[in-house]
Amino acid sequence: MDCFIGTKYILVILCILCVILIDSSNAASSTSYNVVKFGAKPDGKSDSTEAFVNAWKSACSSLVPSTIYVPKGRYLLNAINFRGPCKRKVTFLNGGTLVAPEDYKVVGNSGFWILFNRVDNLVVSGGKLDAKGVGFWNCRRSGKNCPVGARTMTFNWVNNLVVSGITSINSQLSHLVINTCNNVMVRNVKLIAPDKSPNTDGIHVENSNGVTINGCTMQTGDDCISIGDATYNLFMSNIKCGPGHGVSIGSLGQKVDEKGVENVTLTNAIFSGSDNGVRIKSWARPSNGFVRNVLFQNIIMNNVENPIIIDQNYCPNNQGCPGQTSGIKISEVTYKNIQGSSATAEAVTFDCSPSNPCQGIKLEDINLNFKNKAATSSCNNIGGTSNGTLVPESCLLN
Ligand SMILES: *[C@@H]1O[C@H](CO)[C@@H](O)[C@H](O)[C@H]1NC(C)=O
Ligand SMILES: *[C@@H]1O[C@H](CO)[C@@H](O)[C@H](O)[C@H]1NC(C)=O
Repeated sequence: MDCFIGTKYILVILCILCVILIDSSNAASSTSYNVVKFGAKPDGKSDSTEAFVNAWKSACSSLVPSTIYVPKGRYLLNAINFRGPCKRKVTFLNGGTLVAPEDYKVVGNSGFWILFNRVDNLVVSGGKLDAKGVGFWNCRRSGKNCPVGARTMTFNWVNNLVVSGITSINSQLSHLVINTCNNVMVRNVKLIAPDKSPNTDGIHVENSNGVTINGCTMQTGDDCISIGDATYNLFMSNIKCGPGHGVSIGSLGQKVDEKGVENVTLTNAIFSGSDNGVRIKSWARPSNGFVRNVLFQNIIMNNVENPIIIDQNYCPNNQGCPGQTSGIKISEVTYKNIQGSSATAEAVTFDCSPSNPCQGIKLEDINLNFKNKAATSSCNNIGGTSNGTLVPESCLLN
């Protein structure tokens, strides 16, 4: 008790100091909008959507930087669209839990649950998101006619974005989507859904430039991070993935006209019990897209089914692609210092396009075992070089 009170006083003093510091360093000081003052109810039962929208409108039109503050408690939110552009920087500071309605159809018909749209200079920080996806997954598994489903938190056309300290559980579809954004930092987020929950990707990045993802944990039913077309300069570090389908560039090349993926780095990652480790995947269809300048390094694999894989013959249900080859050109991909255990005998699978072989692939210091013995590798239509320790032996052609 003493300790608790002591800590409390210290926190109060720190807060006062903080406020003084911020006030004195900011000639135009910032304002704060508490959603409860706008009528939000922290009971998890009353619909707080309108209160959040009204708090957003005030913050977004503020002439000084503003904060939307969500205090402790559970807030029931319907599909909600935080629309920009805003006048100044907006911070969405969540100290509570946002919950979706029990009935999955309510947000499932809109495609999104929490959407930030055309907002520049945005910070979204803290709190928990519970999309209550179980009913939606059950619907999909039963093969019934289901709504399209909702992504938990989507950012469309956002420049200068920081997302930090968020925990998201049981998304209907992807947890976090970065779409058509520039200069983004995602840090210290935890994304959780059960293994085998359908299409619950962790983070999906698409059509975006300059995205950094650091210190994130994904335990989910689909890709931990999936990377779509027109993604440039993506830097991922300190990532924990599994269960899940790994970090995947693609699927690319479903369409003929694509803009390509360039400059992707994943460094310092641990994959545990995931279906894949690092994957590049494209449809076996004509396309003018490409993947180039990719670095996967300092990675530990724990019992991963396909630790290293390029699959350019993706053709689900054999529809729209049989007999065709992928137009996606894959080049300058480096795999460096990747170690650990594979859950299948073949730890390295390179299945590139017969019409567009992978080029400039590099392997350096790879050590992957299956049941404590050297794993195997397979190569189709691929050229590159290797050096350092190589277990399995390289099958690349120089
Ligand atoms: C990829 O990185 C290189 C080297 O830093 C840079 O010159 C190039 O512009 C980047 N590509 C894109 C599409 O930003
Ligand atoms: C592999 O080759 C690169 C240059 O191509 C070199 O920097 C590196 O030290 C080599 N690694 C080993 C383990 O030989």
